[in-house]
Amino acid sequence: MSETRIDEIAAGIYRLSTFVPEIAAPAGFTFNQFLVEADEPLLFHCGPRRMFPSVAAALARVMPVDRLRWIGFGHVEADECGAMNEWLAAAPQAQVVQGGIGCMVSLNDMADRPPRALAEGEVIDLGGKRLRHLDTPQIPHGWDASLLFEETTGTLLCGDLFAHVGDGPALVRDDIVGPARAAEDMFGASALTPGTAAIIRRLAGLAPRTLAVMHGSSFAGDGAAALTELADDYARRLHQQLERMTG
Ligand SMILES: [Fe+2]
Ligand SMILES: [Fe+2]
Repeated sequence: MSETRIDEIAAGIYRLSTFVPEIAAPAGFTFNQFLVEADEPLLFHCGPRRMFPSVAAALARVMPVDRLRWIGFGHVEADECGAMNEWLAAAPQAQVVQGGIGCMVSLNDMADRPPRALAEGEVIDLGGKRLRHLDTPQIPHGWDASLLFEETTGTLLCGDLFAHVGDGPALVRDDIVGPARAAEDMFGASALTPGTAAIIRRLAGLAPRTLAVMHGSSFAGDGAAALTELADDYARRLHQQLERMTG
């Protein structure tokens, strides 16, 4: 595991990235968290528990860790929220935010302090930044899956969507769908449901200018086009599976 690096990928949105060369070797794999700097700062993704010291030290280079007010993540898995209680301990004012399903199924029990359940479309005003909560069940996996959209910068905190291998630049402006397709071929991490493409097309309707990607490089450019292309790829995969099933 290499030292966590930090890059500002949009105004006041910092990507904390830790590269693990052993995962998906020889390319390796990154684990990224995003700090949304505001009067009430929010961290999206906690990172795995064992990565906490490195990620917390990186965050402390931007602001004191105990200033964190909100902690969000895409769904309950170790890389998304393994270090949740470590962050809650380090930041006494912080509260976990998640969708209703995630709170009911897991977080009311797992989080050391009660989480705040967000409704579909609910906006949290952070003071300088505004985060909209979007329920995205099974996107790309997990009944509890949800995402956040930062409205002032047009940044979609898109979790595992567009995940790809390698330790590329913090921010790219060229194709990210190709690398995401290759990773899907490798891992098969996405749940292919009749709702997959439709929900991703709905995200395209937000017309994000930045896509904050949890594994791999983030993207600046036409987010709607990238999301539409990704939705088309999932629709094609589902179609192929159904054709195989029905012969
Ligand atoms: Fe995941
Ligand atoms: Fe992940």
